[in-house]
This record gives sequence, C-alpha cells and structure tokens, in this order.
Amino acid sequence: MKIAIAGAGYVGLVTAACFAELGNQVTCVDIDDEKIKKLNSNIMPIYEPGLMEIVVKNKREQKLKFTTDLKSAIKDSEIVFICVGTPPKKNGEADLSYVENVAKTIAEVMESYKVIVEKSTVPVETGEKVWQTIKSNNRHNVDFDIVSNPEFLREGNAIEDFMKPDRIVIGASSEKAKRIMENLYNPLNAKILFTDIKSAEIIKHASNSFLAAKISFINAIANICEITGANVDHVAEGMGLDKRIGKSFLNAGIGYGGFCFPKDIEAFIRISEKLGYDFRLLREVQGINENQKEFFIKKIEKSMWIIKGKTIGVLGLAFKPNTDDMRFAPSIDIISRLQSEGANIQAYDPQAMENSKTMLKDVEYRQNPYDAAKGCDALIILTEWSEFKDIDIAKIKNLMNRPLIIDGRNIFDASHMQSLGIEYVSIGRKN
Ligand code: UDX
Repeated sequence: MKIAIAGAGYVGLVTAACFAELGNQVTCVDIDDEKIKKLNSNIMPIYEPGLMEIVVKNKREQKLKFTTDLKSAIKDSEIVFICVGTPPKKNGEADLSYVENVAKTIAEVMESYKVIVEKSTVPVETGEKVWQTIKSNNRHNVDFDIVSNPEFLREGNAIEDFMKPDRIVIGASSEKAKRIMENLYNPLNAKILFTDIKSAEIIKHASNSFLAAKISFINAIANICEITGANVDHVAEGMGLDKRIGKSFLNAGIGYGGFCFPKDIEAFIRISEKLGYDFRLLREVQGINENQKEFFIKKIEKSMWIIKGKTIGVLGLAFKPNTDDMRFAPSIDIISRLQSEGANIQAYDPQAMENSKTMLKDVEYRQNPYDAAKGCDALIILTEWSEFKDIDIAKIKNLMNRPLIIDGRNIFDASHMQSLGIEYVSIGRKN
C-alpha cells in the first residue's frame, strides 16, 4: 500500500520504517528540514535499537522516502498517518495545533479517497475534530474515513513492539476503512481489536494510566516495606505470580519518567476534568510518582549527612535503559536538587550524555562507570542499564572515597553488596 506518515518523531519514524519493512511504499514527512536531511544521510535523530538498519535497508530498496513535501506525499497515498507531536501546553492539556495543521493540509490537497489515521496520542474526541476539520476544508469534495490506531511502542523496544504487538487497536468509522487497516496489518498476524473511534482513543489513555498506576502502587508498597523491614522485590514477585495481576510493571524505583507517562497522565486528568469527572485516582498516581523522587533524595541526605561539597557519582541518566531519551527523566530533578544542595556531580550513561548536556548544567561527564565512581562520596544508580549489573564492584569500592551505593533501581542483591563491604541503600528493602 502507499502510505504517507506525517511526523518523523519517535512514533512516525518507527511506524514508517516498519511499514516499509512489511512491504509498503512509505513516505515519511517532517517540517524540520535538518531532520529530513539527516535521515536522508542515514543519520537517525533518536537512538533506538534496530531502527537504523531497517531505515537504511528500506531506503536502499526504495520502499522508504523522507521529505518535507507533505502535499505530494498525501496526494500519492491511500493511507495518511498523523504522527505529529502533541506536546503539553502550560496547563497540561495536549497542544493539538500540529494535528489540526496536518488535517487541514490533507483536506486541501486530497483528490481521491483516503483513510486518515490518528496515531499520535490525542485526547478522546480528537477523531471527531479531525473529521470536522477535514469535512469543512475538503476542497475537492472527496470521500474519506477517520481511524484511530493508537501506538503502544516502548522506547528501546519499539521495533519489536511494532512487529510483535500484544494487540492492534483500530477504531474505525466505516467497514471500508476497517478492511483497509486490516489488510495493512495482516502480515503481522496479530490480534486486532476493532472498535469505534472514541473507544480506541480511550484505550490508549486507559492503558498508559493503568501502567503508571501499577508503578505508583508498587512504589507505595515499597514505602510500607521499608517501614516494616519487608522486601518489595519479594512482595512484587508474590503479587505478580497471580495471573490476574501479572509480574510486569511492578519494579519499585524512583518513579516513571519519559515523554509519555508524565504527559499522558496529566493530559488524561485534564480531559476528565473537562468532561466533568474528577479522576482523583490518577492525581494520586501522579502524586506518589513525584514523592518517590523526594524519598530518594531523603535517602541520599540520610546516608551522606552533609551533601555540600561532596562528590556524587551517577550511573544512568536516561529515563529508562536502551534509550538516549532524557525527557522528564527522574535524573533531572534528582541531580538538580543535589546540585542545589552543593554536591559535585560526575555522571555516566551509555547513551544519554549528549542529550543530558542540553538539560543539566555543571555535570562532569565520565566515559565509563569506574571513572564516574572515582573519588566519590556516594554512587547513585538512576537507570538500570544492564551493563551496570555486571560492573566489578570490588574495583568500584577501591575507587570510591566512601563505599556508599544508593540504588534507585534495585539492581543489586543487598546481602551480596554487604558481603563485599559496600554500604548499600536501595528502595523498599531493609537498608
Ligand atoms: C510507555 C508505554 O509503555 C507505551 O506503551 C506507550 O506507547 C508510551 O509510553 P515508554 O515511555 O517508552 O512507553 O516506557 P516504559 O517502558 O513503559 O517505561 C515508562 C517509565 O516507567 C520509565 O521511566 C520506567 O523506568 C518506569 N517503570 C517501568 C518503573 O519505574 N517500573 C516498572 O516496573 C516499569
């Protein structure tokens, strides 16, 4: 099929590359000229395992094109995906002006039937607004359908999530659009749930909110574990063995971050408010997440006593492993706070240091975990990269001023650390 993808951000780029890989003819469009130039020179704007390989391969096979020319891309395609950004406005609502712009352009240039798919995370009822916008700007009076097909890609795992999804959600307004989308996704052999547009939109809000609630729930339990001397890892394991609960998203830590959860939870609270429903449960999820960073800082203060003038090594900056994404990473708040208390920070992250430089000031960046630990009064772990799990702790201990490790992601076994002579503090475990 011929597909146009508006937006070469995280979602757009992965979607474009994967649909090309499945044998479609894809044109991926962005207004950012620099980004398109880079993509045309095989430079990826984001770090995502496996992405570069399929982009390069499909460009070479001429199944994938990058351009700034949205109008031609729309004219030439049967399906147009809207994957533009929906950044938060000051009041937490999503800014939909990019979505509106694309909808208007589609309406003005389309000369034949199109399926217009919203894939960006948008508030419920956006499908209707897109439909109205296209209807009222439909210059050539062309037949069209709107589909909501929310994405569930996780950064760092996006290609795999696209190619082997748990489910594909298609909210469609007509049988014709449904069949076209079904054919498009047919090669994946995945479970497809057909529904109406609004339900599809709410599935996205509800799924992200539920996952965030799971994280805040286990973080709340971690605090109870700490007070009582229980171990949150064991509690999570015991809960997760119940099939109704499941074991994923029960890792206690310093809270969720990234560009999706914080923004989407805030947006869903605002949407509910506008609809006349006070979603207090979600406000609490958000509150627990904020507190979790505060609890972690308190742990550092308690273990170090005086922060001023001390050197703190940081392992991990990205909001989670396997990404270079620093947006809304808990590391930003934690490091800024420690700096405001007078700490010197020396940090290492396998991928996120370049992005971190634009967000954090006065951090000394080190080339490996050992250099980050050298001469430190404490080493704090903020992202659970697998390379940290394999570090030589005896070597780290010898390099540090004081062998104090404060682990915000519970990557080590506490008794093993103690047997190595490390003062080890973690989350929801007896410290
Ligand atoms: C999320 C959703 O998973 C995805 O479906 C949606 O499309 C976009 O948002 P992503 O932001 O890439 O994906 O990250 P995810 O792997 O879900 O992790 C989100 C945050 O939760 C991270 O900060 C992570 O560290 C944290 N987390 C996750 C925990 O603290 N504990 C857990 O058990 C799981």
